[in-house]
Amino acid sequence: EEIEKGGYDHFMLKEIFEQPRSIRDTLRGRLLPDEGIISMSGVKEYGAKFENASRILFVACGTSWHAGLVAEYMFEEFARIPVEVEYASEFRYRNPIITEDDVVIAISQSGETADTLAAIELAKKKGATIFGICNVVGSSIARASHAGAYTHAGPEIGVASTKAFTAQVAVLALIALEIGRRKGALTESRFRSLISELDQIPKKVEQMLESEDMTVSIAEMYKDVSNFLYLGRGYNFPVALEGALKLKEISYIHAEGYPAAEMKHGPIALIDENMPVVVIATKNGQYEKVVSNIQEIKARNGKIIAVVNEGDETIREMADHVIEIPDTDEAFTPLITTIPLQLLSYHIAVMRGCNVDQPRNLAKSVTVE
Ligand code: G6P
Repeated sequence: EEIEKGGYDHFMLKEIFEQPRSIRDTLRGRLLPDEGIISMSGVKEYGAKFENASRILFVACGTSWHAGLVAEYMFEEFARIPVEVEYASEFRYRNPIITEDDVVIAISQSGETADTLAAIELAKKKGATIFGICNVVGSSIARASHAGAYTHAGPEIGVASTKAFTAQVAVLALIALEIGRRKGALTESRFRSLISELDQIPKKVEQMLESEDMTVSIAEMYKDVSNFLYLGRGYNFPVALEGALKLKEISYIHAEGYPAAEMKHGPIALIDENMPVVVIATKNGQYEKVVSNIQEIKARNGKIIAVVNEGDETIREMADHVIEIPDTDEAFTPLITTIPLQLLSYHIAVMRGCNVDQPRNLAKSVTVE
C-alpha cells in the first residue's frame, strides 16, 4: 500500500496532486487545439440527439452531482440548451416527465451508484437518450448507457472524490463546447479561444497546487472550529458546495455551501468571530456583489478565506487570508478554485487525526439505496 501511495501520506493527497495529469489524460486525444477541434466518438454518434435535445438532464449523487451543477452553467452558456440537474435518488421516485427529446447525462465515478443506475433505467424506459460519464471502464452505468465518455482519472482510492470530480468537469466542458459549436451557439473564434484556454488548465492546476503551504497555515488556524461556511456565485457556486462537502466528509466539521447572494436569507445569522467563511470571489459579473458579502461578514467579525484572481488588491485588504488563482475563462475556474479547497480539507482532517482515506460511515461506492 505504501508503494501505491507513491510517497504521499494518503491516497487523497496523491490523488489531489495527480490532477494536472488526470485532467490532461481526460482531454488527451479529444481536445485538439492546433486543429481547432474537439473529437469525441460518443458525441459524434449522438450529436444530432444533443443538438436537437429539448433539455439535458443531469442525474448523479454526491460529488458527481456537483460536477453536474458546474455543467449546467457550461451547457447553458456554450450550447444554449435548457438544463436540469437532479439528485438521482429524488428523480427516480417522483414520476418525472421525460420525453424522447431529452438527453439524460448520468455522472458517476464508480459507475455503480444504485440510485444513479435506477434513474437512467427509468429514463431509458421513457425513451430518453442516456449518455454516461463514468471513470470505471465497463461499469454498470457505462453499460446501461446508449453512449458516453469516460473520465481518464485513473483509479480513485480515497473515499472523498477529488481527481474524479475535476476529470468530470473537464469532460463535460468538452461536450458542452462541442455541442455549442455544432449548434452554432458558439462562434468559431470563441470556440477556438475557449479550447486553447481549456488546454492550458492542467498547467494552471499544477500552479495552483503550489498553494499547499498556504492551506496548511490556514488549516492550523481553523482546525478546531465547529462550523465552516463556503460561498460562491455562478460557476463557483457548485465549488462552494463541493468545498463544504469535502470538509465535512473527512474532517467531520459541519460545513455548509451556499450561493453567496443567499447568505442574507439565513447563514448570515450564524456569523460571528468563530465562523470562518471561505469565499470564492473570482472576477465575474457579480464580483462587486461578492465584495459586499465579504464586507457584511467582516462587519460581523467573521473570518474570511478568499479565493481570488491574481493581483486582487480590493479583497486582499478585507480578507484574513487570500489564495490567488491564475487567470482563465470564468467557465473553467471551477477546475482551479477546487484545488485549494481540497487541500484545505485534507490538511484540516489530518491535523484533527481523522482517517482521511476512509472516513467513518462513508463508502466509496454506494451500491444500495
Ligand atoms: C459516495 C462517495 C462520493 C461520491 C458519491 C457518488 O458518496 O463517497 O465520493 O461522490 O458516492 O458516487 P459516484 O461513483 O456515482 O460518482
